[in-house]
Amino acid sequence: MLNSIGLQNPGVEYFAENDLPFLRKFDTAIIVNACGSSIDEYVELCKVLNTLDIDGVELNLSCPNVKAGCMAFGNTYDGVKEVTSQVRKVLDKPLIVKLTPNVTDIASIAKAVEDAGADGVSLINTLLGMKIDIDKRRPVLANNTGGLSGPAIKPVAVRMVYQVSQAVHIPILGMGGIINGEDAIEFMLAGASAISIGAGNFINPYTSVNTVFGIENYMKKHQINDINSIIGTVIMN
Ligand SMILES: Cc1cc2nc3c(=O)[nH]c(=O)nc-3n(C[C@H](O)[C@H](O)[C@H](O)COP(=O)(O)O)c2cc1C
Repeated sequence: MLNSIGLQNPGVEYFAENDLPFLRKFDTAIIVNACGSSIDEYVELCKVLNTLDIDGVELNLSCPNVKAGCMAFGNTYDGVKEVTSQVRKVLDKPLIVKLTPNVTDIASIAKAVEDAGADGVSLINTLLGMKIDIDKRRPVLANNTGGLSGPAIKPVAVRMVYQVSQAVHIPILGMGGIINGEDAIEFMLAGASAISIGAGNFINPYTSVNTVFGIENYMKKHQINDINSIIGTVIMN
C-alpha cells in the first residue's frame, strides 16, 4: 500500500473526551501514537497525554507525509535525541519512539532514542515511495510521494529490527508487512519483543487474530512454552 493520508485527527482534547472512554471498554492496553510539528508541540501534547488514563505513548518521529515535523526530527541522531529527551522530561508513562526507515544508519538513530531515555523503540514506519500515472505523466498521489507499507517492505523491516537489536538494550516493537504468524515469528527471531500490524488489517480485518493463532501453531510445532524464549535468537550464517 502506498498512502499519503497525513496525520489529520480531531486533537488530543477530543480524543480524551470521546475516543478514550470508548477504548477503555475493552480489556487491552492503550498506547497513543503522538505527533507534532515542532518540539514544543510534542512536549505540550505529551504533557496532556501524561494526565490521561492511557498505558503508554508511541512518539511518531517518522511520518513521511507531513511537511514540517516528524521526519524533520526523525532522520538525524541529534533531532531524535532532542525531541525524545524533551518529551521524557514531561512523560512518566512508558515511552516508545517510532523510527523512520528512510535513513542510512537505523542503528545509530535507535541508539539516540535509548540514550535519551526512551523505554522502547518501534520500527519500521513506511518507506518513502512514488507511483506515476504513465498516461498523465504525473504522480498518482496528490502529495507526489507516499509511504509504502505491507508485505513488500517486510525484508527491509526484518533487517532493520535485527540491526537495531544489535545496537540497543531497550525492547523493540517490530512491524512492516506482517500478515500472519510466520511473519511475526520472523520479527521476534530478529529481536522484536512485540509486533504490530498496519496494512495487513486492510487486507483482512482478522489478520491480527489469525497472527495470534499462527504464533501458537509455531510454538506447538517447535515445542516452545514461552514465546519470550525465541526473541533475538536468530542464528546468523
Ligand atoms: C493507512 C496507514 C496509516 C498510517 N498511519 C500512521 C500513523 O498515524 N502513525 C504512525 O506512526 N504510523 C502510521 N502508519 C505506519 C504503520 O503504523 C506502520 O509503521 C507501517 O505501515 C509498516 O507496517 P505495516 O506494513 O504492517 O503497515 C500508517 C500506515 C498506513 C498504511
